[in-house]
Order: sequence, then C-alpha cells, then structure tokens
Amino acid sequence: INIALIYGGRSAEHEVSILSTRSIYNNLDKSKYNIFPIAISKTGRWFETEKSLEYLNSETNSIPDQADRKLFPLEVIDFLQKNIDLAFPVLHGPYGEDGKIQGFFEILDIPYVGCNLSSSAVSMDKELMKKLFAYHDIPQTKFQVLKKSQYKVKRKKEFYEELTKKLGLPFFVKPANMGSSIGITKVNEKKNFAEAINSAFEHDNKIIIENFVKAREIEASIISLDNEIRVSIPGEIIAQHDFYDYKAKYQDSKTRLVIPAEIDDKIKKEIKLLAVKAFNAVGGDALARIDFFLTENNDLLVNEINTMPGFTQFSMYPLLFKESGFPYQKLLDQMIEQALN
Ligand code: DAL
Ligand code: MG
Repeated sequence: INIALIYGGRSAEHEVSILSTRSIYNNLDKSKYNIFPIAISKTGRWFETEKSLEYLNSETNSIPDQADRKLFPLEVIDFLQKNIDLAFPVLHGPYGEDGKIQGFFEILDIPYVGCNLSSSAVSMDKELMKKLFAYHDIPQTKFQVLKKSQYKVKRKKEFYEELTKKLGLPFFVKPANMGSSIGITKVNEKKNFAEAINSAFEHDNKIIIENFVKAREIEASIISLDNEIRVSIPGEIIAQHDFYDYKAKYQDSKTRLVIPAEIDDKIKKEIKLLAVKAFNAVGGDALARIDFFLTENNDLLVNEINTMPGFTQFSMYPLLFKESGFPYQKLLDQMIEQALN
C-alpha cells in the first residue's frame, strides 16, 4: 500500500505536526507500506517526496518557505493521483484538521486516514462543536461567542462586566479554530482582558470565551473499526503550569500523564459513554481524542474533540491505546484499515 504522509501545514501547530509525523513515520511497518512524505510549508507550499523526507529527518523541525514556489506544483498532484492509495494527513489545526484537506482528497478520490469532512470541520470550530454538544445535552462549560466585527463596536468596560456576570472569574479566551492551546489566555482581572481578546483574534476572526472550572483534565481516545466505536481507558494530565498550555504540552518535562487515570470505575464508565456521545454528536467516523474536565464534585464536562490528536511517542492518544492493548504500530494499522474500508 502506497501511503502519502502529509505533514507540516499552514496552521500554528506546524511544528507539532512535524513531531507527530516523525513518530508515525518511524512506527509504520515498512514491510507493509511504501511511505511517501509530502511536506507543506507554513505558507501552504507542497513539496515532493525526496525533499519532504529530507525535511522530516532534519533536526530543525521546519520546512523552508520558497515564496516563488507554486502552492501545488503539478508534479505533486500528478504523483498523488498516479501513485498513492491512501493519504494520511498528519496535520493539526486549521487547513489540516478542519475538513479542508479532507475535501481536497475527496475531490481527488483518494481515501484518507481520519475523520470525514464535516466532523473534522465542526470539531475544529469550537462554536459549532459547543452548539452540537448543547443540542445533544452533553455537559460542557458555559460560553460566549464573539466575532471580530462585534467586538469592534462593543463598549469594552460594559462587555467585561457582562462576561463576568455570565461566566464569573477567571475565564478563558480562545480562538474558535485552533489547537494546542495556542492563543488561549486565562483572564483573572480586567487588566489582562483586552490583551487576551487581541491575542485570540490574532489567530481567528471568531473567539470563544468560557468559564473556568476547577477540574482535573482527563482524556480518552476513540477509534472506529468495522462500524464499532472503541474507547481507550482514560488518562489524566497533571500540568505544573496554570493550565495545560502550549509550553506544558510540548516543552515541559514536568507535565505528567497518568495512565490509567486514578478515578472510580463508575466515572470511567461515564467517560466511555460520554466520549461516544460526543463523538457521535459531531458525526465522527474514524478517530478522535476527547478531552474532559472532572470537577471537584465529580461532574464530567466535555472540553473538546480533537480529530487529529497529537501523535508523538509521548502523546496521550497513542499512549492510551497502548495501555488498552493496541500498541502504536497496531494502532496505525487499524487506522489505515479503517480508512481503506
Ligand atoms: N491539537 C493537538 C495536536 C492535540 O490535540 O493533541
Ligand atoms: Mg484541541
């Protein structure tokens, strides 16, 4: 089977994608698969396999941007159409996890690993995701959506008061479409409010403001196989930072993953049920990592769904399945099998 491993990409999670892809590349069974890496630069330029493999193996974790290069060189499209049986877009965030590249492969009629176009799109957009959760009575944090055009005409002081009244303090300000906690700020007081809003708007024209809940962070992995949804055991993230931000996720060795999470069996069961419910609510059909909050009163809230979760050797998604009886290599086999069926 000839697999195109698409990586890098236009989102702020570009470097995370490189790390995930390196790990996937090293773990794919080379006796079963011919693997052709295809790198995408931060400005969206696609590269041929030879160069892409070179970038993947370089220590710099970057793909050079060549401004004069075409976005989709014809040779790359031609190569994909003539040689590739399956695309594996290991791309996080906008342009990779949000349905756009899924649509591209639908048009080319090349099967791909990961969720379909619509579930990818609604899982990436926190407004749509939260509205679907609400429709399906899935417990979640209180929130407020704000578009850039609305914010421009708001009276800042009154808006802050309106938010604190609705959500309490502190609250989180997040770009609607982003991952890895990029652009997220915890607002504790009025002083850092404007900056938090501006920094979220740097990544998106739409932002989400959410109430803060004091809670443990629990995650579960999902894979759909033969139309049956399998959920891993849950794991817990214990970050030393204020919250599980970008630094804690990728740069801080003090962040601990506890697998399995030390919680009651009853709550573990609830996590399973709720994970499936959330996955179905967005129409998920392949794989996802579902992130939860477990409050001090043992209430579970669904924080979000990631349809292409981090895939490094140290990432929750593969580690949870490893402990659930699918080691990394077997998990990749199953993802590929699911995509080809
Ligand atoms: N968005 C990152 C890759 C994650 O969810 O793991
Ligand atoms: Mg995410």
